[in-house]
Amino acid sequence: MTEFRKTDFQKTRARFRIPDGVIYLDGNSLGPLPIAVEERVARTLADEWGGQLIRGWNSAGWMVQPRKLGDRIARLIGAPAGSVVVGDTLSIKVYQALAAALAMRPERRVILSDSGNFPTDLYMAEGLIETLGQGHVLKVVAPEEVEAAIGEDVAVLMLTQVDYRTGRLHDMVALTAKAHAAGVVTVWDLAHSAGALPVDLAGAGADFAVGCTYKYLNGGPGAPAFIYVAPSHAETARPALSGWMGHEAPFAFDPSYRPGAGVERMRVGTPPVIALAALDAALAVWDEVDMADVRRTSIALCDLFIELVEAQCPMLELASPRDGSRRGSQVSFRHPQGYAIMQALIDRGVIGDFRAPDVLRFGFTPLYIGEAEVCGAVTILRQVMDGGLWDRPEYHKKAIVT
Ligand SMILES: Cc1ncc(COP(=O)(O)O)c(C=O)c1O
Repeated sequence: MTEFRKTDFQKTRARFRIPDGVIYLDGNSLGPLPIAVEERVARTLADEWGGQLIRGWNSAGWMVQPRKLGDRIARLIGAPAGSVVVGDTLSIKVYQALAAALAMRPERRVILSDSGNFPTDLYMAEGLIETLGQGHVLKVVAPEEVEAAIGEDVAVLMLTQVDYRTGRLHDMVALTAKAHAAGVVTVWDLAHSAGALPVDLAGAGADFAVGCTYKYLNGGPGAPAFIYVAPSHAETARPALSGWMGHEAPFAFDPSYRPGAGVERMRVGTPPVIALAALDAALAVWDEVDMADVRRTSIALCDLFIELVEAQCPMLELASPRDGSRRGSQVSFRHPQGYAIMQALIDRGVIGDFRAPDVLRFGFTPLYIGEAEVCGAVTILRQVMDGGLWDRPEYHKKAIVT
């Protein structure tokens, strides 16, 4: 791992607050705290909210933050400036993207997705179908069957690019091309892609995309989501949740809705100003990062982790693709006692997470994880497995969040 790099990962690592004694392999779930966020949030509270009060909407630029941050994220996902806006939760953005996509194919009734999709995406589709009451159906197939299931009956193909459990990576370019050839509109969920690997939405010709900012983008717990609308659809897309912030002129207080210009129409209500300030500071690290370096290094770290775990803990079964080019930035292993094993690891400072029924999930983020952490984590994992250290009553007790 000594190839030429434009990115100085020692420098990026110094930008995060990681507690002593912790090997943090859960940035794919909640990114760690960027140090710059502390100062920025303190300033937003004291100077902006405290000092400027309601004037801050104009004087501190609160109102334009959703669009400005959208542009910062756009650079990371291959989207042109002005095509991404930030706000609300990812579930809400899935709903809006799917509703807008369905409205583009009024004569078709099938939403195609896969069993690797995150449950909320499927739940939001179910809810939307019920609300529309037009007889749409949600067709869920196995990930490897998606390509064959794309046909002229399908209105929308809605997929999460990187499987949250296994890390399996869909081929966005090929599936989008196949979808378009059949007249299908695409919605991509980039929750496990943005900041994890290079994404080229414009190059792939994706129609809609959504994602969260609390994982690889390190925006903090509950940080707002983003939505992308291809420029070719942005002036006609129907946002479904037609809130006043997506109105053409919110402060005209017009009694009827007129959609705002382009992606602005996907805004719904008042933006979460403090969370946006945190996200703005968190995104600064990407100004000094080359995504190709992130990808190369992340694959090397994941490969090393797989090699060491398979050599030292043969009782764990690899659940992720072995080929790094077919994986996101995480590695998963299966074990019937996965939950207890993960609790024992966390107790010893190796923080990953567990996904039912049996998946131990580890995320690798070169911004603050290197070879030493990978080797250290596997040493502790081997101790936990060889010594049966996971088999203590407290490690079997399920917490609310796993
Ligand atoms: C792929 C994917 N989609 C959607 C969500 C849910 O997003 P939210 O809770 O922000 O609505 C998650 C959460 O982890 C996710 O991983």
